[in-house]
Amino acid sequence: MSESKRLAGEQAIEFVEDGMVVGVGTGSTVAYFIDALARIRDRIAGVVSSSEQSTARLRGHGIEVLDLNAAGPLPLYVDGADECDPQRRLIKGGGAALTREKIIAQASERFVCIIDPAKQVDVLGRFPLPVEVIPMARSLVAREILAATGGQPVWREGVVTDNGNWVLDVHGLRIVDPVALEGELNQIPGVVCVGLFARRPADVVIVGGQPPRVLR
Ligand code: A5P
Repeated sequence: MSESKRLAGEQAIEFVEDGMVVGVGTGSTVAYFIDALARIRDRIAGVVSSSEQSTARLRGHGIEVLDLNAAGPLPLYVDGADECDPQRRLIKGGGAALTREKIIAQASERFVCIIDPAKQVDVLGRFPLPVEVIPMARSLVAREILAATGGQPVWREGVVTDNGNWVLDVHGLRIVDPVALEGELNQIPGVVCVGLFARRPADVVIVGGQPPRVLR
């Protein structure tokens, strides 16, 4: 339980408009957003979910979960992050939901990121960078990442993503150019998704507190 996560999640309701289909992320901060969304569920047209975990919570509240292919472009996506820099670029994937999260972020006109103050950093990389990989490519991708960045990839053993893949967490990075690194790591065969959200950063960041701070 975190009071600042709750305050951030509840503040994001301000961005929800009547009749919207809302993209919903994953994690403990988003759980507060989902609970707040449940209170206005009759005002929205439905949601698109980024994980089985969020889908279960949404359905538990009686909120209709739609397929992204049927829903089309979304007006709003609300999600948490593991780190956020001053340009609203993010590290995500601590909950292993990065691939679907990045898809929905890309499909959305406005990305509102909800965080507690501890997630704010000047330079990304203290939080190990998650990379979703095709299982057979795990050690190849690890070697390539080590050679390209000097970072130490660690297999998140026992974790299987909603897409049936595995996750490497890359330690020891100091990411001064997140746009370039996101592009570079995306090129490695076997990489499904890099947990850097820099090419498509958040548009708005809500930092939980009393009162919450809204950064644009
Ligand atoms: C899920 O894969 C992540 O991208 C989450 O958005 C991130 O880990 C934030 O989680 P919390 O809100 O639980 O801190």
